[in-house]
Amino acid sequence: MNNIDLVYLDGKYLPANEAKISPFDRGFIFGDGIYEVIPVFGGHAFRLAEHLQRLTNNLAAISITNPNTQDQWTGMINKLINNVVTNFPDILDQMVYIQITRGVAPRDHAFPGNIPPTVFAYADTAPIAKPEYIEHGVSAITCPDNRWQRCEIKATSLLANVLLRQQAAEENVTEAILIRDNFLTEGAASNIFIVKNKIIRTPPKGEQILPGITRDLLVELIDKHKLSGEETMITEQDLLDADEIWMTSSVKEILPVTRLNGKKVGNGLAGPVYKNMLDIYRAYKQSIRNGSVT
Ligand code: PDD
Repeated sequence: MNNIDLVYLDGKYLPANEAKISPFDRGFIFGDGIYEVIPVFGGHAFRLAEHLQRLTNNLAAISITNPNTQDQWTGMINKLINNVVTNFPDILDQMVYIQITRGVAPRDHAFPGNIPPTVFAYADTAPIAKPEYIEHGVSAITCPDNRWQRCEIKATSLLANVLLRQQAAEENVTEAILIRDNFLTEGAASNIFIVKNKIIRTPPKGEQILPGITRDLLVELIDKHKLSGEETMITEQDLLDADEIWMTSSVKEILPVTRLNGKKVGNGLAGPVYKNMLDIYRAYKQSIRNGSVT
């Protein structure tokens, strides 16, 4: 349950306990849907155009007709954000969660055409990374990437990711970093960057990874600030030999991974390339907060 008790469901804004979804919704029965998580800094949605583009791509990828125009999505998102800004002025950062499922139909794996999709959304406070995570980093384990072959779709059917993150939690670490056929793909709920000899590397986009909005921003900022970076395949050995490892996501932002499989990464502290990247990212975030960048 979210802290802020207002949700959007199929065109209506309601208290969360009044929002009702049919148990025959294909989202519940099959996990047949997609979702987005959009960070909000100082009341401004972070990279809204990019998030809406990914949402549009995901709907097309699973053959759900987009139920809203870009303006309608933007209006709905801003209404949820402004509700928090107005009623909870102390909350600095938020996140908006949006889920679209194929809708309600008699149970059959193959789907009927033209049923209205279910659209659900809410805004909530954003989890704040603990300062010690940024200074000392977090721990991770490597796991075989046993997910499906369409990981570029931000699907709500997340059972493999859930089990991988749970495995990480049971081993008291923050993330499971996934290896498929000897190559790094991504984290159970994040993208991964490594640094070796000051060169920043991240796997290329494709069906093996989610095209993370935070990832894409970092690639853009690396380019803009003329840092040395490349989008390239990374072997498991490259990962194990890295000087620095970072994880990125809308809710975790950029975190250094300083222990992998119980061993130190580099000297076991947040590295210099990370610290520089964090400064650049924070400056960008500040420009969103004060409204000078969208
Ligand atoms: N997850 N890869 C996976 C598998 C993810 O689930 C996520 C984010 C990312 C990072 O994408 P972005 O930078 O756009 O958040 C990469 C979200 C936050 C979640 O499921 O809660």
